[in-house]
Order: sequence, then C-alpha cells, then structure tokens
Amino acid sequence: MTKIEMFTGKGGVGKTTMSVATALHYAESGRTLLISTDPSGSLSEIFAKPLDQKVVSVAKNLDAVELTRKLVLDLWREKFADEIYTVLSSFLPVGREIIDYIEGAPGIDEEFMLDYLLSMAQSGTYKTIVWDTAPTVTTLNLLFIQQLFYSHLTQAQKVYIKVKSVFNKVDPLALIDKWLHLTAQIIELLRTDTSAWVVANPEHLPVEQALDIASSLTDFEIDVNGFILNKILPVEICAHHPFWQQKYEAQQICRKRLYMGSGNRPIKEIPELAGKMKIDGFLGEVSRLLY
Ligand SMILES: Nc1ncnc2c1ncn2[C@@H]1O[C@H](COP(=O)(O)OP(=O)(O)O)[C@@H](O)[C@H]1O
Ligand SMILES: [Mg+2]
Repeated sequence: MTKIEMFTGKGGVGKTTMSVATALHYAESGRTLLISTDPSGSLSEIFAKPLDQKVVSVAKNLDAVELTRKLVLDLWREKFADEIYTVLSSFLPVGREIIDYIEGAPGIDEEFMLDYLLSMAQSGTYKTIVWDTAPTVTTLNLLFIQQLFYSHLTQAQKVYIKVKSVFNKVDPLALIDKWLHLTAQIIELLRTDTSAWVVANPEHLPVEQALDIASSLTDFEIDVNGFILNKILPVEICAHHPFWQQKYEAQQICRKRLYMGSGNRPIKEIPELAGKMKIDGFLGEVSRLLY
C-alpha cells in the first residue's frame, strides 16, 4: 500500500524545501512521487525541468509533478465532464455550458487534486507519495461537505428519478453513487494511509497557524507526525550583535510556544542555512538533518 506524507503550513515556511528533501530521502529506498499542489509551487525551478504538464522523472526512483490549477482542471474535464453533464441534464434543462460554469466553482480544483492523489496511490506504482501542499483545511472541509451533498443528492433524487425514469432511460443515481463512493475512498485514504508534517518558522503567526492546522488535521482524523521548525537562527552567529541577539531571543519565545502547544508531538528543528534551494544546494543538508 502506498503511504502518503504531506507537508503543510503557512506560505513561505519551507514546505517545498521539506517535501523535496523528504522525497529525496524516500527515493533511496523505493519508488517515490513528489506532488506539489501549492499554487505558488517551485518544483519546476528546483529540478530545472518543466513539471507542470505531466509526471516526470527527476532523479533515480523519484518522479515529480506540479499540479497547477490548469492541469487539474484539464484532467477534471477529461474524467468527469461527461458524467456531470449526464447527471445534471437528467433532471435539469441545462446545456453543455454547465460544465464551464461548474469548472469555475470554488474548490473544484482542490477537490480534484485529492482525486488525482487517490488514483496515484491506487496505481500501486509508488511506495511513497510526498505531497507538498498549501494549507488544506478548506479543502478537507469541502470534502466532507461534498460527501454530505452527494448523499443528500442521492436521497432526494431517488424519489424524483423513480418518477422520471418512466420518461428517461439514463439513471444518474449510479453516477452519484459512484461519486459518493469516490469521496469516501478519498477520505479513507487520508485517514488511513496519510500522515502530515506541519512546518513553521519560529515566528508568531507561522507557529499559531501550525498549531491550528495540526488540531484541524487531528479533527479530520489525519495523523500528525509532528512539526518541523525551520530557519532557526544559530545561537553562535547571534551572540555578537545586539540585532541578531534580539532576533534570536524572539525566535526562542516562539519556539517555546510551539513546544508548549505541540501536545508532545515530535518537533524537528532545522537551522537557517546558507546557499540555494537546489539539489546541489542546501536540500541535501536538510535531508541529512531531517533523517
Ligand atoms: N532552512 C532554511 N534556511 C534558509 N532558507 C530556507 C530554509 N528553508 C527554506 N528556505 C528558503 O525559504 C523560502 C521559502 O521556502 P519554501 O520551501 O519555498 O516554502 P513554502 O513551500 O512553504 O512556501 C525559499 O526561498 C527557501 O529556499
Ligand atoms: Mg512551496
């Protein structure tokens, strides 16, 4: 069974850095896929290859893909447009344009990303999927709302379809049931095969957000492995200048706050590093520090 490890946290805290370092680590012991769903993703730049069109091999045992909104919507259309049209047109007087309309609905892209994740996990190709993600609490919320929505849809339509089936041969209930099943599978995947690392910097907002995200994930029954506290200023560098000393102390206060709120989950600490976020830059070092 494919394991999914996700990295979440506020923008700019180091999710992509940790994801790439982790993916490199897992690739040493099995086929690994690195997926970025962060809209401000930078995988293509890090690996110096276009990764926003399809899955591409980036290193030994390591594939990567940047799921941009456009790529996700293209895949969504290919897979679901006909089905959605079939269902809606069976009980509403709508034309094909309804697909364009739905495509613009908020959350469709995020929701489909999860479907993509599921199909990648089910393909059995990868031992591990590392998932570099923007904060997902909204996405997860949508998923549960959607499950409710589909089940209501199934209930309400049962009555209507019974009557309508006299005039219309298409049975949209089977499709709605299929979507419901798919959503249940995604939720199951997140609850049983996925675990999360929450990344933060030693600053007030990233730490508070990290704690919020961790508690939301726990509410959704997604395993939180722990926190990664990234870009900690090394004490020896800060000792000789009041500005850096002050910065260091401010960081340490936030660091303590994270330990206090962490509920004894593990916290991995990564210092502020020099160099570039490249394969031959500090990514190797981050990987060594993490594992
Ligand atoms: N430990 C670190 N030391 C120095 N720079 C870092 C460190 N971790 C991340 N960075 C830099 O911080 C910026 C944001 O990191 P990134 O991984 O892209 O964050 P996110 O994916 O959360 O937006 C990048 O420029 C990255 O190179
Ligand atoms: Mg990123």
